[in-house]
Amino acid sequence: MAADRGLVCLQDYERHAHRHLDRNALDYYRSGAGDEYSLGLNQTSFRSYRIRPRCLVDVSRVDLSARALGAAVSLPVGISPTAMQRMAHPDGECATARAAGEAGTVFILSTLSTSSVEEVAAAAPDTTKWFQLYIYKDRELTRQLVKRVEAAGFRALVLTVDAPVFGIRRSDVRNQFKLPPHLTLANFTGLHATDVNESKGGSGINEYVLSLFDPALCWDDVAWLKSITKLPIVLKGILTAQDAVRGVDAGAAAIMVSNHGARQVDSTPATIEALPEVARAVGGRAEVYLDGGVRQGTDVFKALALGARMVFLGRPALWGLAHSGQRGVRSILDIVRWELETTFSLTGCNSVQSIRPCMVVHKSFYHKL
Ligand SMILES: Cc1cc2nc3c(=O)[nH]c(=O)nc-3n(C[C@H](O)[C@H](O)[C@H](O)COP(=O)(O)O)c2cc1C
Repeated sequence: MAADRGLVCLQDYERHAHRHLDRNALDYYRSGAGDEYSLGLNQTSFRSYRIRPRCLVDVSRVDLSARALGAAVSLPVGISPTAMQRMAHPDGECATARAAGEAGTVFILSTLSTSSVEEVAAAAPDTTKWFQLYIYKDRELTRQLVKRVEAAGFRALVLTVDAPVFGIRRSDVRNQFKLPPHLTLANFTGLHATDVNESKGGSGINEYVLSLFDPALCWDDVAWLKSITKLPIVLKGILTAQDAVRGVDAGAAAIMVSNHGARQVDSTPATIEALPEVARAVGGRAEVYLDGGVRQGTDVFKALALGARMVFLGRPALWGLAHSGQRGVRSILDIVRWELETTFSLTGCNSVQSIRPCMVVHKSFYHKL
């Protein structure tokens, strides 16, 4: 792997972004809810799991490929939806989608993107693209958006179920966060649903969500969504076995274990802590994914061993984008691929299928011996 001027890990890109992004954008991208306890936990909890390598396995060929909702991916690491990417780089979501395609993996576009569904489809026609959906009080607006997503060739809807309102991100309140005036929520140009360029005294994005998202959203709405689309539905934001089972029963094709990058309720478990109970409850009836705090190849390996079919990166893609647009996001994915491949080689795994659950244990395993 050729390192990009001394940037050899995802944290190097994060540090670079911290030095170069303006306060409004950096705080919006970086922050978590409340005390940001879960924000730290998402990353540190990976350290509570230990990898048990197997020796003397032929790893002269290591294959990282996998399948997600029927699509072949060359790396089991995709890009989670993050809003407003043009604050990081003028090419925004188009660059991220292209980078994901080059790396042979999935890109998820946010409803709250600064490049429209159609722009992203045109910029990255060959990328496997999924669309993250927020359901608006205005169901007709939501329905039309779903139809545009289908027409643009997106392959799945990722319904975010952990955001009836937005969590309190203190720095956005302090900064009175707003989208810079030259940017818009591009999926809604010309509609009232674009107003994030102002703040009424707090976080502009929270005010937007309060006025337009439907806080009454419930399981019946998953049935409604299924009734208006043939696309597979991924439920994003599940943290318990109960909701996972409910989601599968409601017809979800996949469950994404996520706490929204710790931006909603502080003190939720780290996603790697929640993954085993969800994977067990789903029991193979749907695909299981994870995002939150994934920062290196060993994190990916741990999530795969504990039951995830794919993992997704949120903030790291933003840090890559802020560094050098498409090239920076590509570097992020290349670094994770290199780290994951190395982890496979050093643990005696030559394919995703060869990872055994017993290869990753909680640290308490060693205390009991
Ligand atoms: C700046 C930012 C914006 C986000 N926007 C969305 C969004 O529009 N829709 C959504 O479902 N999740 C959103 N998320 C949550 C991410 O999809 C993902 O769950 C989270 O970032 C994963 O954690 P990580 O950043 O530690 O990788 C956002 C997260 C961040 C950091």
